[in-house]
Amino acid sequence: MTDIFWPDHLFLVGCGNMAGQMLARWLDCGLDPARVTVLRPSGKPVADGVRVVTGYPVALPADTTVLLGMKPYQIADVAASLAPLCGEDTDIVSILAGTPLAGLRAYFPAPRALIRAMPNLPVGIGQGVTALYTDAAVPVQAREAATSLISPLGLVEWIADEARFNEITALSGCGPAFLFRFIDALARAGEALGLPADQAARMALATVEGAASMAARASDSPGALADRVASPGGMTRQGLNVLDADDRLLKLLTDTLSAARDRGEEMAREG
Ligand SMILES: NC(=O)c1ccc[n+]([C@@H]2O[C@H](COP(=O)([O-])OP(=O)(O)OC[C@H]3O[C@@H](n4cnc5c(N)ncnc54)[C@H](OP(=O)(O)O)[C@@H]3O)[C@@H](O)[C@H]2O)c1
Repeated sequence: MTDIFWPDHLFLVGCGNMAGQMLARWLDCGLDPARVTVLRPSGKPVADGVRVVTGYPVALPADTTVLLGMKPYQIADVAASLAPLCGEDTDIVSILAGTPLAGLRAYFPAPRALIRAMPNLPVGIGQGVTALYTDAAVPVQAREAATSLISPLGLVEWIADEARFNEITALSGCGPAFLFRFIDALARAGEALGLPADQAARMALATVEGAASMAARASDSPGALADRVASPGGMTRQGLNVLDADDRLLKLLTDTLSAARDRGEEMAREG
């Protein structure tokens, strides 16, 4: 891993399932807990050395990076207390789903850098996917600082068009749940063929883990790998023929991502 450019101060607003995973990974990668303050109404401890507060400080230290990690509907309340503390030298990274950059700018006019991020849950083990977006007003150094901060969490992908956020969320944000379902179905299909349930579950999980790691290291695309490991007339080919018939699997996944994307658009309209 290349050197990480840690912010001088990190202020987390909310530290639940997602922000908690991000922070856990940063601490594992060497972030000094003394640089971190977490605001959470419950006041529950987070990690050794990390300061937890239940209310806003009177000021933020210079060059603070704020991570907005509460629920999207809380933005107006949070901004009412937080925006007056933010100066030009504050960087804000928001993981709030469905909250566009323009909306964030309206709440936080002062900071030079506002960045939208869409992480997924494996960020906690450094194998997540995080999509980042910002606009041309944000200086290159702030983009680089965000890339450096997010890199220890896994793959970082800057996206060019904010309108794509719901598609991105459908693929990588919701993707872990879809893959969990796939692993479960692979195991249950093995069970349906007569394998003991616990053995099928272990083998399905290890098969997906091994195949994903192999695909990540291979020079061929996953699509090409599938064909390479399937000899004509063999067992794998016979199985692939079922998945491939009329693009069955592709259509199923396109429908799955479309449904997730459509729900994102619906939620944005509902506000
Ligand atoms: N979960 C995902 O897979 C995922 C993926 C991408 C993005 N996101 C985004 O991540 C954000 C958090 O989701 P989550 O699943 O992590 O939710 P969560 O587990 O419910 O965490 C919410 C956090 O917000 C804190 N909080 C509650 N009220 C607050 C207030 N008034 N001011 C400041 N903080 C407050 C909570 O404090 P306590 O800890 O004290 O209760 C908690 O730490 C959402 O905006 C969501 O869109 C989530």
